[in-house]
Amino acid sequence: MGNKIGLIGFGVVGQGYYEIATKDGKNLEPEFIAVKSREKLRPQGINFQYDLEKILEQSGIGIELISETEVAYEIAIKLLEAGKTVISANKKLVAKHLPELLKLERKHGGKFLYEAAVAASIPVLSNISTQYQGDEIEVIQGILNGSSNYILSKIQQENQSFKEALKGAQENGYAEADPTFDINGSDVASKLCILSAHAFGVHLEEKSIPCIGIDHLKAEDFLLAKLSGGKIKLIAQCSKIEGKITASIYPTVVGPNHSLSPVEYEYNAISITSKNVGLQNFQGKGAGGLATGAAVYSDLAKSNSGFQYELVKKGLKKEYAHPASSEQQFVISADSKVLDDNFPYHRKYSFEGKSYVLGSFSSNHVEKLRLKIFESDGSILAIDKNISLDKIAQHFEFKALEFAEE
Ligand code: HSE
Repeated sequence: MGNKIGLIGFGVVGQGYYEIATKDGKNLEPEFIAVKSREKLRPQGINFQYDLEKILEQSGIGIELISETEVAYEIAIKLLEAGKTVISANKKLVAKHLPELLKLERKHGGKFLYEAAVAASIPVLSNISTQYQGDEIEVIQGILNGSSNYILSKIQQENQSFKEALKGAQENGYAEADPTFDINGSDVASKLCILSAHAFGVHLEEKSIPCIGIDHLKAEDFLLAKLSGGKIKLIAQCSKIEGKITASIYPTVVGPNHSLSPVEYEYNAISITSKNVGLQNFQGKGAGGLATGAAVYSDLAKSNSGFQYELVKKGLKKEYAHPASSEQQFVISADSKVLDDNFPYHRKYSFEGKSYVLGSFSSNHVEKLRLKIFESDGSILAIDKNISLDKIAQHFEFKALEFAEE
């Protein structure tokens, strides 16, 4: 068997890795390539195989790059139980099954590397593993989905419609085959689970993270961001404050001085604040065949020189934990009754048939109301702490006055 490499899946990322491996000439190209469908049109001159079981048996290293999470799970289990190496870009697989896969890795002496699963080309997990020893990470903030960032850039920089921009993200190979998780924030939630496990040793249950994607955003939200001198970014945050882990994902209005404001199109970025180092920013392509394939290829090279994440030694402190509630500024629009009933003491404005509330609210409170808000065709927009709600209130007061005068 030796260290024969079996590649499972030949989609956008598989092809990216394959292109790099065949060009680099360091004997890190796959011996076998397993694909599911015999009917699909594929590049000529490559020997595709269809017997997955046989390939898993014959490979010492399995590079799993398929989209079906449960099949990926079966593959990872089988390889790790045999003490083999698994390399994956599947964030759903890692976010859901990390505790179990870590245990198998430790028990059977295999290796499990998945740098490409978080922010594609940015080596953030390896960095946390190697560069933050003796340090304590306090806050992680990031843009973690290339497709949604691409869509937001296309809308805000180029006036494209959501539909057009999504089509562009699909055509460029940034979006998943089914883009639902790219636009509803679920993809980001998976990545945040993995980051929390590596940074804090606390593996969060994905569903417990308050998470709103870009799919509910409306033209008026973009206008509001513009009027406040900022733009909307899908910001994920995770922090450890007084021993409590917080986590949330919200479309957020950020001002021009925010470190994530200049990150456009398919780029991702991650800001890490730690006790010893202070703030460090990492930025790079967060999606795309070559960018993600490069991370897979590097994992392969690293696994050959014995690299393993620190997490394997340290283990997880908590599995399937729920984040604590955190507080931040919001502008929420909804039916006026929903707002009056649930935000009785905050600034509210009504005009053009819509009602808005401005204030600092807890993520738990917002989460409880999200269904009601979206059912009444409303929206939830977080406002970065460096943008003054008073300034936004001025805009609303002006609009309300204008509307009353009409
Ligand atoms: N669809 C993902 C994204 C790919 O757009 O970020 C990388 O995880």
